[in-house]
Amino acid sequence: MKVPHEWHKDFFRNSFYNPASPAAVEKAPAEAAFILRQLKLKKGAALLDLCCGPGRHAVEFAKKGLAVTGYDFSAEYLKEASARAKKKKVSLRLLRGDMRRLPFRGEFDAAVNLFTSFGYFQKFSDDLKTLKGVAAALKPGGFFLLDVINGDFVRKNFRRRDWVEMEDYYHLEEVEALRDGVSTTWTRIEKKGGKVQSRKFFGRLYDKKSVSSALGKAGLKPLKFWGGFSGKPLTSKANRLIVLARKSR
Ligand SMILES: C[S@@+](CC[C@H](N)C(=O)[O-])C[C@H]1O[C@@H](n2cnc3c(N)ncnc32)[C@H](O)[C@@H]1O
Repeated sequence: MKVPHEWHKDFFRNSFYNPASPAAVEKAPAEAAFILRQLKLKKGAALLDLCCGPGRHAVEFAKKGLAVTGYDFSAEYLKEASARAKKKKVSLRLLRGDMRRLPFRGEFDAAVNLFTSFGYFQKFSDDLKTLKGVAAALKPGGFFLLDVINGDFVRKNFRRRDWVEMEDYYHLEEVEALRDGVSTTWTRIEKKGGKVQSRKFFGRLYDKKSVSSALGKAGLKPLKFWGGFSGKPLTSKANRLIVLARKSR
């Protein structure tokens, strides 16, 4: 089975995968706190959460007094983000669209893209379109913080097959190494009723060098790197690659 061309359109649905698992939601406040320490934004500053999904970070940013725009392709996740904001009594501006076609011009003090919501396109030019859109969306001197899986870590700890037990289902993973990234098949087997669903997706692997080059091509200068939200250094032992970049003034 080949990775479908626009695989994201059929992948990010709650019936198959929801990034806001209880464990992920629990981590969001500490991750948001780390991010805000790096961005040093003033109250009321405009922040773009690109690929905000169900809004687990967006609501934390809004709780700290930022004017948050969440942008995502999945209508289901945006609905969940809206409900989460209502529950937390914060306001979010939520917009649906494709990350390759960002409609913003110089309106944000900062932008974030979290939990490996980047590197999804089989053409590198599409990743670059996304980064150029982020640069255009930022005010001069605006910051961009990107959090993706660390390509060096994935290559060194490659596991062809893996599985994990979730609350309601079993999650199976099969990974194939490609030149620029990985093609992964996720299979979900419901505990109740045994329904089986499989989807294949592509992930471009970025390391310090390749992400710096991509950011540079989009007019974003990498400033700092970390290997996790604890603030640990980026080494091949760290499974995250977090980079803070800045648009020139
Ligand atoms: C791994 S989830 C992470 C969501 C969120 N950042 C979080 O941490 O919970 C990736 C997100 O990217 C969104 N996405 C995927 N492809 C997209 C595209 N082409 N344009 C906009 N959003 C997209 C998905 O709908 C999903 O919400």
